[in-house]
Amino acid sequence: MSSLSLSNPSQLIVRNMDCFELDHLLMIGLPGDQLVSQLLDEGLGRVTALTRDFSDYRRLKPLVGNHNDRFFLTFAPVLEEPLSSPVDGVLIFLQKSKPLMDFWLEMIRFHVAANVPIYLVGENDEGIKSWKKRLKQSFSDVKSVDNARHCVLLEACGAMNKGAVNKGAVNKGAVNKPDQFTEKGAFKTFTVQAMDKVLSISSLPGVFSHGRLDVGTEVLLETLNDLPSGNVLDFGCGAGVISAYISEQPEARHLTLVDCDAMALASSRQTMNDLGVENFQVLASDGLSEVTGQFDLIISNPPFHQGVKTHYEVTERFLSESHQKLKVGGELRIVANSFLKYPPIIEQTFGRCETLLSRNGFSIYRAFKKV
Ligand SMILES: C[S@@+](CC[C@H](N)C(=O)[O-])C[C@H]1O[C@@H](n2cnc3c(N)ncnc32)[C@H](O)[C@@H]1O
Repeated sequence: MSSLSLSNPSQLIVRNMDCFELDHLLMIGLPGDQLVSQLLDEGLGRVTALTRDFSDYRRLKPLVGNHNDRFFLTFAPVLEEPLSSPVDGVLIFLQKSKPLMDFWLEMIRFHVAANVPIYLVGENDEGIKSWKKRLKQSFSDVKSVDNARHCVLLEACGAMNKGAVNKGAVNKGAVNKPDQFTEKGAFKTFTVQAMDKVLSISSLPGVFSHGRLDVGTEVLLETLNDLPSGNVLDFGCGAGVISAYISEQPEARHLTLVDCDAMALASSRQTMNDLGVENFQVLASDGLSEVTGQFDLIISNPPFHQGVKTHYEVTERFLSESHQKLKVGGELRIVANSFLKYPPIIEQTFGRCETLLSRNGFSIYRAFKKV
């Protein structure tokens, strides 16, 4: 999507502009299009927004300066600060992960008065229709506002107390009125066996393979006993499981964990801190855009898009960026679904691609940078 165009959910919002002529709107899961500018230009007083996606954050950041003191934007798992002034409406962009939606609804109920209307917009193929029923479990009045562009806009009012703020997600020690909502109580943990140690991995709602080890990642871990030492990049780190595993090995390494998802970055940081790893950094980046330095190893369970054509474009971009970021002699090691035709793409960039293991529908590929 070009940054100038509007996503389908945003187009539905624009069709219903009269709902959003408010003093202060809280927008959660904001997409990186021109919607905010359009709303601010056409009657909305001020916006506080949260996005979990670093590429959206990068696109939206310049707009903050264009709308002095009227647009506040955070890239984080949760709103870190109390709201600067009360909001009179909330707009949530549907996320695929139901646990993440539940978590964000709790966060909203922490920050916002019970009588403030909550709007939820999403696409039919993301499951927006099931949300009318789900919202009725927590709000006394839920209705469909509009339905177009393969999307639905819902409005929920009258937040009920049932299942209110997750006690673990507020500051510990606060007895009656906690003063901060944090992600702390929302982590799920699972364990991974590394050599003779059991590692605890923490993941937040919305993170890839939340609360469990992915089968592809598990196959990759089986091949990690002959890795180079030195500077290591874990691309698309998720909850940090690959770096956690590598950090247990005796070789001296510095680990850079990269992801575009704020929920993943917070999870990776938690995982590495819990393990007491010191030689690491966690970095927000879209692809390798923010990554500096040269690496001895780039390791990944890389993302791919399931659209018919697009997944190879994403992979090609990652492979060519990886080639640039590797030292001569440096290694790329990745896991992918065996049905994806990665070896010819890796060969195009690296010259040679070895298949180290194929199991349970996944293959592990290795390539070295020659020049
Ligand atoms: C298949 S998951 C692997 C997660 C983790 N390494 C594991 O093995 O469990 C791919 C990860 O890539 C991240 N990702 C997707 N697109 C990205 C992009 N353009 N730049 C950086 N990270 C991206 C996703 O947020 C996700 O955490």
